[in-house]
Amino acid sequence: MNDQPFSRSALDLVGKAAIVTGGAGILGAHFCSGLAECGADVAVVDLDAARAEALAASLRERWGRRAIGIGCDITRPEAVQQMVASTVEAFGGIDILHNNAATKSADLEAFFAAFEDYDLAMWRSIMAVNIDGMFLVAQAVGRQMIKQGRGGSVIQTASIYGAMAPDQRIYEGSEYLGRPINTPAVYSVSKAAVLGLTRYLSTYWAAHGIRVNSITPGGVRSGQNEEFKRRYSQRVPLGRMAEAGEMVGALVFLASPASSYITGQNLIVDGGLSVW
Ligand SMILES: NC(=O)c1ccc[n+]([C@@H]2O[C@H](COP(=O)([O-])OP(=O)(O)OC[C@H]3O[C@@H](n4cnc5c(N)ncnc54)[C@H](O)[C@@H]3O)[C@@H](O)[C@H]2O)c1
Repeated sequence: MNDQPFSRSALDLVGKAAIVTGGAGILGAHFCSGLAECGADVAVVDLDAARAEALAASLRERWGRRAIGIGCDITRPEAVQQMVASTVEAFGGIDILHNNAATKSADLEAFFAAFEDYDLAMWRSIMAVNIDGMFLVAQAVGRQMIKQGRGGSVIQTASIYGAMAPDQRIYEGSEYLGRPINTPAVYSVSKAAVLGLTRYLSTYWAAHGIRVNSITPGGVRSGQNEEFKRRYSQRVPLGRMAEAGEMVGALVFLASPASSYITGQNLIVDGGLSVW
């Protein structure tokens, strides 16, 4: 608690230790870099250990922070325990958790299959990462934060399609990295569950001073074809897709003391898509 006038140092993360799951991904790399730029030590956690370590090395070099790369499959409870133990050993504790990993699976044909044909095993494998994995990481880190007794900030990445339904018409002629795309129901449902978990944990851990909020990104420009970008952008009040770096301000705000009275909220970063 703090009755001082606002200071820009409220956005300072120096001396804070952060975990970012899915840290080697398209958005994850920007999130890790933004936290390090604002002063945090960062554990880059990803299924892809080599990319996680390469990013951690670049954070150490560029920002002079303590950064570590940890290969971890967040669907495996023992791997999650080990990841949390390694982070505590390296940094002495954990102040910020960004629960950000999600999967499209390696089998894109099955991932993008029509709802009427959707395979239960595929459904479960997506849920296993997007929500079960998020639960496991929140559980292990929350336990550690409670033990430390100094509060903490948990931020969970949802998606605009967890908050609203996709306009199915935008997928006509749309491609991502050269193949037709859509948003499967399992993705929307898993991301809606992220919002539920966030609200639940925000009240559950409030007495420990642990704040829990979500970030909801709208569509970010990466490998989509021009047709998709055109159709998507037409629906957005700001008239374009997001750039990956535009998600970072929301994370730093929610991670920092600048948001000390905010918990259980969902910060939507969608160029206004969900407003009209
Ligand atoms: N990019 C977008 O347009 C967009 C829009 C809305 C929401 N999001 C959300 O933002 C987050 C980041 O998205 P992104 O675009 O960077 O995705 P991405 O696919 O580039 O990154 C996801 C990362 O998670 C890792 N991962 C997958 N399964 C894992 C597991 N079992 N254990 C540990 N790590 C695992 C992957 O290796 C990858 O590096 C996701 O939660 C995604 O759903 C993205």
